[in-house]
Amino acid sequence: MPFQQYALEPLPRAQVETGRALKSLIEETVVSDNKSLTLTDTVAGKTTQLPILRGSLGSPCLDISKVPKDLGYFTYDSGFTATASCKSAVAYIDGDAGVLLYRGYPIEQLAKHSTFTEVAYLLINGELPTTTQLDAFDHTVTHHTMMHEAFKSFMQGFRHDAHPMAMLCGMLGSLAAFYHDDLNLHDPEQRRMAAIRLLAKVPTIAAACYRHSIGWPGRYPRNNLNYVDRFLHMMFEVPSEPLQLNPVAAKALDLLFILHADHEQNASTSTVRLVGSTGANPYACVAAGVAALWGPAHGGANEAVLKMLEEIGRPEDVATAIDRAKDKNSGFRLMGFGHRVYKNYDPRAAIIREMTHKVLAELGVNDPMLEVALRLEQAALKDDYFVSRKLYPNVDFYSGLIYKALNIPTEMFTVMFAIARTAGWVAHWLEQQVDPEAKIGRPRQIYTGAVARDYVALDQR
Ligand code: ACO
Repeated sequence: MPFQQYALEPLPRAQVETGRALKSLIEETVVSDNKSLTLTDTVAGKTTQLPILRGSLGSPCLDISKVPKDLGYFTYDSGFTATASCKSAVAYIDGDAGVLLYRGYPIEQLAKHSTFTEVAYLLINGELPTTTQLDAFDHTVTHHTMMHEAFKSFMQGFRHDAHPMAMLCGMLGSLAAFYHDDLNLHDPEQRRMAAIRLLAKVPTIAAACYRHSIGWPGRYPRNNLNYVDRFLHMMFEVPSEPLQLNPVAAKALDLLFILHADHEQNASTSTVRLVGSTGANPYACVAAGVAALWGPAHGGANEAVLKMLEEIGRPEDVATAIDRAKDKNSGFRLMGFGHRVYKNYDPRAAIIREMTHKVLAELGVNDPMLEVALRLEQAALKDDYFVSRKLYPNVDFYSGLIYKALNIPTEMFTVMFAIARTAGWVAHWLEQQVDPEAKIGRPRQIYTGAVARDYVALDQR
């Protein structure tokens, strides 16, 4: 089927407004005052002051930390939909406007002009690097991509059909066993090196997981290549012939890595921070982040999207899938649709949408799943169920189609996400380590179990 038949329809109006929203964000005045709200329990006659905290952008927050002491109540917020868990300068999202900033830079600008390693530098260090700084950073990352040879025997312990996310989680966690002399979290240089090692080694481990699953011999990282090219070589090069790398494929992967690099306090980053709050080592923290990312409601969605598109199979079956997604009893949701924070078109999805067309056209891939995806998107964007709930395509709706075009198998999709998100995870972990307000994360609960009762002997039950 000719490619032109899948012509992209314009995005919904809300997305077009994003540029304006961005301008108003840039112009927003930074306010820092100590005003507070007063909360009064009129029955008990108790009062507390809730200080209003303001960041550089976004909604103000009420500091509720004194409520239990002053009023005798805890606060309840299942899923943390209304609660800020920390102060952070790494990324900012305006979910209503569809805006994402890394260290203040709009994702659209980074996607257009930057590279993944430059973005990783930005996330970790807070500023864009000079040429010298970027060269030095690339050099350091490149020279920490090798794994200890003992990893080979560790890898052999996994069954050939182990899921690569299971392997990635185990292998990353095991890094602590190799660098136990280098885990003084009070030493800034050791913290920095741990972050670099994670960023450098995650593609090596990811490619090794893939090769193990298909029975290919391992491939060492090549220092003469950049981050993405090196990863693609480790993934696809066979000993018998050199790999001819397609620059379009490499560029597309670099872009996907940029778009997935960070997303403020999402489930996996919050997991990294929660584990980090205990003083656990960074390898354990990032392994925990990988475990959280694996879930189908989070990073596992890209794998689930492709499975869903294949299950739908034909464009003419899209209407039935939409009906099933609207039926609460079907247990079926449109994977790649909806987002906890974005109540507008995910800005990353808008970029990937364009990229998917370009990549598939330039690689000459005629994937019928693209037409299913486009039909599904258009049908959902016109359907009142999705419109009224502000359910738009998220970053993962299209990313799987690009991965598929790059010959990356479905089980590896979430691993690709993890490679990119490692940049964000280590940036947050480093930030947390020097946060003077950081405390061990310890949420409270509303207990709904049995009230205190006496033990009943076994023969009397
Ligand atoms: N398909 C159909 N209905 C949906 C979908 C969907 N994908 N997502 C949400 N809804 C409906 C819910 O049934 C609910 O309807 P109701 O108000 O009638 O009860 C309403 O929309 C709100 O849904 P919630 O689950 O409360 O929204 P929440 O913000 O908690 O969930 C989430 C967000 C988990 C992403 C959800 O939209 C979802 O499951 N999407 C599919 C999975 C997915 O794509 N995840 C990737 C997220 S992006 C990322 O992690 C990189």
